[in-house]
Amino acid sequence: MEGTPEDDASEAEAHSAAEGEQEEAASDGAAHIEDIAFSFEGPFGKFDQFQLQRGLQVYTEVCAACHGMKFVPIRTLHDAGGPGLPEDQVRAYAANLSPILDPETGEERPRLPTDHFPAITGEGMGPDLSLMAKARAAFHGPYGTGISQLVNGIGGPEYIHALLTGYTGEEVEQAGTVLYQNTAFSSGNIAMPPPLSDDLVTYEDGTPATVDQMARDVSAFLMWTAEPKLTHRKQVGLVSVLLLVVLTSLLYLTNKRLWAPHKRKLHHKR
Ligand code: HEC
Repeated sequence: MEGTPEDDASEAEAHSAAEGEQEEAASDGAAHIEDIAFSFEGPFGKFDQFQLQRGLQVYTEVCAACHGMKFVPIRTLHDAGGPGLPEDQVRAYAANLSPILDPETGEERPRLPTDHFPAITGEGMGPDLSLMAKARAAFHGPYGTGISQLVNGIGGPEYIHALLTGYTGEEVEQAGTVLYQNTAFSSGNIAMPPPLSDDLVTYEDGTPATVDQMARDVSAFLMWTAEPKLTHRKQVGLVSVLLLVVLTSLLYLTNKRLWAPHKRKLHHKR
């Protein structure tokens, strides 16, 4: 039946295969992406604040070595609906990041909450992760309708999770560079060395830091950076739909009432 998670995944594959090569390389369905029931999916979904805080920790301690997030303002870490860090913690976090070149004075100064996360470029560094969770939609269909996305989310966080947990342990050398075999990556071999291993970070809330858990947390965090207003958007959408339902029923009743006398007349003539 359409709509079950397994089906959607295979639908996605079939759909992408049919669509051919013009799809984003990473979402071409070459790999099977497992659905994860993230807290922010579905019409009532919202971010889990503690998961976002854990994801921020994973990003900071692991991924930030090679990946920037230049589109994300540091101050948003304080936002309700996001990680919700207290303001003094956000200030301390910003100050701990690499210094920034002030465009006005031309001198380096410590980063402030009003600045963005650093951009990271150079040899061996990865792409910017600010919007990655939305750039890699793993779920499509059925038949291009996107219904799967309505139920399961767009699949971006699932893709990141699959990528982080998809290493087979095999390495191949191509043109002098070592690539790591990965079941989620489009070409099958990725230049990113496996970034996670069990207990790589220590969570303050006592959550066991398995590779799977860290991958889930950082994927959820990256969904938040890509769409920080997701929770708000869903709430507004829900209220609007409810309002429209009420309005529709009122209009229906009004319509009935307005036409009632004329309909009665017609009835008498016959
Ligand atoms: C040692 C450096 C390094 C670390 C640490 C690292 N990455 Fe990467 N990452 C890379 C490189 C290099 C690439 C580009 C790989 C390629 O195109 O073959 C990449 C690519 C990616 C991609 C894009 C894959 C695609 O579909 O194009 C994602 C997503 C990603 N990394 C997430 C993460 C996350 C999340 C972490 C932290 C848990 C992390 N990376 C840690 C180096 C790193």
